[in-house]
Amino acid sequence: MRYDLIIANGTVATAADVFKADIGIRDGRIVQIGGEMDDATRVIDATGRYVLPGGIDSHVHIAQPSGPGIVMADDFDSATRAAAFGGNTTVMPFCLQERGQSLAATFRDYREKAKGAHVDFGFHMIVTDPTPQVLGQELPALIAEGQRSVKVFMTYEAMRLDDAGILATMEVARRHGAKVMVHCENEDVIAFLAARAAEAGDIAPRAHATTRPVAAEREATHRALTLAEVVDVPIVIVHVSNGAAIDEIARARARGVNITAETCPQYLVLQADDLERDNWEGAKFVCSPPPRDMVEQQNCWRGIQTGLFDLFSSDHCPFRYEDDQGKRNPAGLRSFRHIPNGIPGIETRLPILFSEGVMKGRIDLTRFVALTSTNHARTYDMYPRKGTIAIGADADITIWDPQIRRTIRHAELHDAADYSPYEGFEVTGWPETVILRGILIVEGGTMTARAIGTEVPRGGS
Ligand code: URP
Ligand code: ZN
Ligand code: ZN
Ligand code: ZN
Repeated sequence: MRYDLIIANGTVATAADVFKADIGIRDGRIVQIGGEMDDATRVIDATGRYVLPGGIDSHVHIAQPSGPGIVMADDFDSATRAAAFGGNTTVMPFCLQERGQSLAATFRDYREKAKGAHVDFGFHMIVTDPTPQVLGQELPALIAEGQRSVKVFMTYEAMRLDDAGILATMEVARRHGAKVMVHCENEDVIAFLAARAAEAGDIAPRAHATTRPVAAEREATHRALTLAEVVDVPIVIVHVSNGAAIDEIARARARGVNITAETCPQYLVLQADDLERDNWEGAKFVCSPPPRDMVEQQNCWRGIQTGLFDLFSSDHCPFRYEDDQGKRNPAGLRSFRHIPNGIPGIETRLPILFSEGVMKGRIDLTRFVALTSTNHARTYDMYPRKGTIAIGADADITIWDPQIRRTIRHAELHDAADYSPYEGFEVTGWPETVILRGILIVEGGTMTARAIGTEVPRGGS
């Protein structure tokens, strides 16, 4: 057989095994693993490298409406370029229905925006206005065509649903075969504490963390799990930040609730104290839920190590700290309440988990692959086309240099935000070459193919 590409002499890792084998690729798919192969258009020597399934980041916000006067830093061009440089071959952004809008029309527009992406993609639907039209017609039709994941918010005044709205959305998801992703924080608790903070003149970024305490996340996590239990729908608890929420998940799992649990780099390596940095730089760490403390970091590591967490995602949600004139958002300087919630991280997710997890002996390479790729494909109906190295799978491969040491510098990243919350963080291990459906998209520090990303069909191979 003639191959388009052979990856030779590398150490292959999947979510199950680590082994030495050459990989043969033809017509965008993996056609051979191990054994004799010689005749190829191109051979890449991966000696001393890991050959991994391309990263799948199933929680990213790209070109998402973010309130009056606030523009998300990344469009699909910049976000997916950064994703590729970070070792990812698939991303899953959110299509946000704004209140009063049609979900179906929003989705058509959003899908248009994704044209020109550099990696493959699939979407989640965010329902903020569960009208009879949306729940009776639009959402069922979208699920039927493959959009089998729906997100709801319990916080953010402009987007949250009350329990009745969540139950109604869950019921539609259950009936038509979708999962429901839930952002769990109790908005009334947050509004109450924010009002008290305002009265006390407590307006700096640190108050973002104190007004979003663990208790608000724990209670909402418990409630979301209860609602999913009542409706009997599979639920994804996204961006879990602490041990109390982890305990709620473990208890509900023991009751038989079908739960997928996710955490993110910010809960492993950032802390609420980062929001105290001088000169309002704390604003660079404002995300929800907020980073916590060292004890909660350890609790999240425990969840990573024990298998409680299935997904490790970035929750990439990029806003600029300063505009082109070097000015900061004046509203955000008046109060932490007006700092947009979210931080960039699409390019640094894999290096942070590899370095802090694999290199420091907390997890092995198979668990790394499961957390960053395979489990995302399984959870969101892309497996086995995506998320593994197997015959017949898409040839989405990241060749990983486990030895290279780098200090994260925003100036060397590729997103369109103007900072990284991980600036100065030292990591060992970085993606070297990234291959999407058999085509090299990143090699030697440059992008070698342009905009070949396409939407992934959901629901099998
Ligand atoms: O602060 C965050 N996480 N912003 C992104 C939106 C969300 O809540 O996932
Ligand atoms: Zn969220
Ligand atoms: Zn998010
Ligand atoms: Zn940037």
